[in-house]
Formats: sequence, C-alpha cells, structure tokens
Amino acid sequence: MAFGNHSITEETFELIKSLLPEGKTILELGSGYGTEQLSKHYKLFSVEHNPNWVGKYNSTYIYCPLINQDKSEFEQWYNIDLVLEELPKDYDLLLVDGPPSDFRRTNFINHITKFNKEAIWVFDDLQREYDLITYKKVCEMLEKEEKIIDCGQKMVGIVEH
Ligand SMILES: C[S@@+](CC[C@H](N)C(=O)[O-])C[C@H]1O[C@@H](n2cnc3c(N)ncnc32)[C@H](O)[C@@H]1O
Repeated sequence: MAFGNHSITEETFELIKSLLPEGKTILELGSGYGTEQLSKHYKLFSVEHNPNWVGKYNSTYIYCPLINQDKSEFEQWYNIDLVLEELPKDYDLLLVDGPPSDFRRTNFINHITKFNKEAIWVFDDLQREYDLITYKKVCEMLEKEEKIIDCGQKMVGIVEH
C-alpha cells in the first residue's frame, strides 16, 4: 500500500497537513491507505460503501451502500440519507474521495446541504473530467473562488468557507 493510485497522493497528504492543525477532525467520503496516514494526525470518520474496506484502518467507519446500482454510474451515490444521523456534526475538513469511478461523484452537488459549510472541503481527482466539472459547479453554487492545486499524480480542489 502506498500513496497515489487508489489513495490521495503524498502531496495531497502534505497539503491537508498544511491546511489543518493536528488533532482536528476529518470526515472523508471513501477510505483507503490515506485514511491510515491521516489518522496518525487527525480524528477520522470515513463514509465507505464497500464492506471490504470498512474497518480496515484507524477511523470511525460509517458503512453506506450506494443507491441505483442497477443504473448508470451518473445516478449512483452514497445512500447518505440512511446514515445522516451517524455523520459527525462537527468536523474541520471534508475530503471528497469517493465513491470510486469517473462519474459517480457528480452526485455530490445534490447533497451539498448535508455537509458542514464551516469545514474546509477538499476534492480529489480533479484531473478527471467529471470530478473537475463537479468541483467547479460546487464553487459556483456556493459562490466560492476556485483553488485547484497540482498534487503530483492528481489535481485537488479546495473550498474554504
Ligand atoms: C479513491 S478510494 C478512497 C481513498 C482514500 N480516501 C485514501 O486516500 O486512501 C475510493 C474507494 O475505493 C476503494 N479503495 C480504497 N483503496 C483501494 C485500493 N487500494 N484498491 C482498490 N479499491 C480501493 C474503497 O472502497 C474507497 O471507498
């Protein structure tokens, strides 16, 4: 296991460390090797759709299957309404790094109001067409300036509130 590929890159890990003081709380969508590394510095909550990745690392896992699995990936996303009560109320950074695939994360924009707008939002994988479109749409909806950072293998977008 290493940074990059299925996980955030080391540059993204360092970026998060530069944005967020040690000991703060992160809610991430999608768990992996990056969870283990981040959990050495932060309190982690992980929304995870795949039972094989639940409980693997030092995080409070929120198992959340996807909806519309028989439909196009553009219609699939976490069944977030099932777990709203389990989401932490106060967190300092939201890492949008799931569900996997090039298209599923477009649905984030339909659920913006369910996440803490006081937190910093970090969007991974903006080198992908639809993740970039989604990030830009979020910035437009919230009237925030776009901040896109080259994090090595991946591009990352920040929304600071
Ligand atoms: C992009 S990954 C999330 C990565 C995580 N935020 C990190 O930095 O390690 C999205 C999903 O892929 C799955 N996944 C995580 N690590 C994986 C791996 N090494 N190989 C295949 N799938 C993985 C999990 O279901 C996870 O929710």
